[in-house]
Amino acid sequence: MTPILAVGVMSGTSLDGVSTALVQLTDDPLEARLVAFRQDAYAAAERGQIIEAIARGGSRDLALLHVALGERFAGAVLQLLAAAKVAPREVAFVASHGQTVWHEPGRATLQLGDPAVIAERVGVRVVSDFRARDVAAGGQGAPLVPLADVLLFGHPERGRLLLNIGGMANVTYAPRLGVTEGALAFDTGPGVAVVDAVTRRIDPAARFDLDGERARRGKPARKVLEALLADSYFAAPPPKSTGREHFGPDYAARLVDDVKRGGGSDNDAVATATALTVETIARGIERWIRAGPEDELVMSGGGARNPWLVEQLAARVAPRPLVPFERLFFDGEAKEALAFAFLGFLTTLGKPGNLPPATGARGPRVLGRITPA
Ligand SMILES: Nc1ncnc2c1ncn2[C@@H]1O[C@H](COP(=O)(O)OP(=O)(O)O)[C@@H](O)[C@H]1O
Ligand SMILES: [Mg+2]
Repeated sequence: MTPILAVGVMSGTSLDGVSTALVQLTDDPLEARLVAFRQDAYAAAERGQIIEAIARGGSRDLALLHVALGERFAGAVLQLLAAAKVAPREVAFVASHGQTVWHEPGRATLQLGDPAVIAERVGVRVVSDFRARDVAAGGQGAPLVPLADVLLFGHPERGRLLLNIGGMANVTYAPRLGVTEGALAFDTGPGVAVVDAVTRRIDPAARFDLDGERARRGKPARKVLEALLADSYFAAPPPKSTGREHFGPDYAARLVDDVKRGGGSDNDAVATATALTVETIARGIERWIRAGPEDELVMSGGGARNPWLVEQLAARVAPRPLVPFERLFFDGEAKEALAFAFLGFLTTLGKPGNLPPATGARGPRVLGRITPA
């Protein structure tokens, strides 16, 4: 088929901003190509409003947020297209993940960012609400990137682990490129959401622990870390997924209090949160995934921009190689937005987008809803 262009829009649990990817697609998944990528950071006030609406918002707040996020996503898509010098009419569809405002595994998951607004402003068909159908089919609706991981980013001859460290961290085991049989994926627990929230609690003006400098100067509080590691989430077998409902600002506030009560410093609290992410990623892989010891761990997401976190993770998983996603493919922060463009493509073709062993759904399902242009 002649290549088509699509845009993937992602706003993750870290609430750092909107990621948009312009993607070229053909019927061969391996030809999926990133054409352009953009990140639009939320202003601190904007992030605060979203967090507030999630935590305490009533129906009106959520309804207004739905429309406001739709505008925000539409604006991000238009800017991406303008920068890439691509006209909206050249784009086959926009795949919008939306902003998760509630994720209660096995019961409900809700993403806001009205697709009608995106379709109206951009003038392009929109695929959205990817998670709902999987939940209706008994799944958790998450993680959804795993099918894209296996079909696009697996190793051609052996096993590969794909780790995305966003607000939450998730890992996919791809037995081989294109082979879904034996593939497994789950959220290992918090990625950077707790590190971010702990850092903001200590320094409200900070966006995150820039380059991991606080964690580097601190020391994990062993007792607190052990207590956190005893959380039943980590002991539960896949399928499993989690979110800010569990590993959010309240969780971070308790972590800071516990570290302080034990005589630890601000930086020790950030170091403890960082160590929790590193340890739960490593344990999740060791415990639930039958990967060979030489199967590489390929890392993407904003957490991979934190050099201290990466250093600690590399030491913890050694001798397993830890490889940055961009060394093999493209900017790792664009991976999820590209993956949703790919999932949207599957939807438009009437093909399933979930990986049932990852979500726990009763079977493969065509995901999403389509809003005409
Ligand atoms: N230079 C950096 N130093 C430390 N952390 C960083 C840096 N750059 C990005 N990050 C982390 O990446 C996060 C954003 O990651 P992202 O993959 O967009 O997550 P999500 O998909 O949940 O939005 C930020 O909140 C921050 O924790
Ligand atoms: Mg993000």
